Amino acid sequence: VNFFERKITEQLQKQTTKGLLRRLRVADLRLADFYSNDYLGLARNTELRYKIEQDISGQKLSQGATGSRLLSGNNSLIESLEVKLAAIFKSSSALVFNSGYMANLGVLSSVPGKGDVILYDELIHASIKDGIRLSLADAYSFRHNDVDDLEKKIIRHGGQVYIVIESLYSMDGDIAPLKDIIQVSKKHECAIILDEAHTTGLMDSTGAGLAVSMGVHNDIDIRIYTFGKAIGTHGACVAGSLELTSFLTNFARPFIYTTALSPHAVAAISHAFDFISINTNLFESLQEKVNYYKACLAAAHLGNPAFGWIQTLLLNDPGKTKEASLSLQQQGFDVRPILPPTVKAGSERLRICLHAFNTHEEINQLIKAISELR
Ligand SMILES: Cc1ncc(COP(=O)(O)O)c(C=O)c1O
Repeated sequence: VNFFERKITEQLQKQTTKGLLRRLRVADLRLADFYSNDYLGLARNTELRYKIEQDISGQKLSQGATGSRLLSGNNSLIESLEVKLAAIFKSSSALVFNSGYMANLGVLSSVPGKGDVILYDELIHASIKDGIRLSLADAYSFRHNDVDDLEKKIIRHGGQVYIVIESLYSMDGDIAPLKDIIQVSKKHECAIILDEAHTTGLMDSTGAGLAVSMGVHNDIDIRIYTFGKAIGTHGACVAGSLELTSFLTNFARPFIYTTALSPHAVAAISHAFDFISINTNLFESLQEKVNYYKACLAAAHLGNPAFGWIQTLLLNDPGKTKEASLSLQQQGFDVRPILPPTVKAGSERLRICLHAFNTHEEINQLIKAISELR
């Protein structure tokens, strides 16, 4: 064995010893889905699929974008999508990226520069952390959703500060105190970067996310929306000023040096947003399931629920968390364990995602199975 095989084998063994080794698994479609990010069921919606297929075959779209946006990969389809997205998210401009990961990498690596300060919520997503690692700015975390700690750090570190937060935290399911953060940000003349991955397509029946639903979108400088979750497809966009999207087009390397989304993918995103705007009952149905879950949780005295479609059950131990998820899977519920490094060691948990398509019966049975775990 050569040096690198020795090294990677050792690292894999360490993960195994810690009980943290991960493997890819093919989804078992017989289980009730309490783990995917397909909150509205759009990824599996047959009516939407039919519309996309009709459109794709009617337009005779090419299979691939053939190049990056700045070379051969730009076309009127993607530009029309960007106009549509800017209207939905009430921004002057929107720029499509191939994924939320790449949008976050693009924004964080290019906008905050040398001498700037990034203050990020300690529970921020890995894609933002990776973007921060690529940035020349100094970066510090503040305590989760703690506006006092944020303000202390703004004062301590001073300068041109970017505050980076999520609308709905992906592994905790709680919402950022957006109004308070905006207030502190205005007081100290900071800029806010908001990742709306788990609120894109959600928050109300228009699906425009948290900032728009609260009417505070103009107070957020940079907003990131992703399409792989409630929109049921793939890709992302950054919404903001024309200057911002023009800057990203020039300086965001994850935008520049990659092949653009295929026309099929672009058409699918566009149709998914049209579908949401027509089928306003989808969000209502999700909200109703969330309310039902909360009521069942309270009736079973299983502790406090999180805000919405992302619920958690803290078990604080990797072994127990894996066992619990396995037991739920054996009973027909797909619920996955969330382990380090995704969450801090000692805060291992089950992440339970709710969907518009989950039935009352499934939710009832799941809560029953959870109470029996305990
Ligand atoms: C908060 C957050 N931001 C960004 C991403 C990345 O988005 P994408 O899956 O589109 O790359 C995710 C999901 O993986 C996420 O949860």
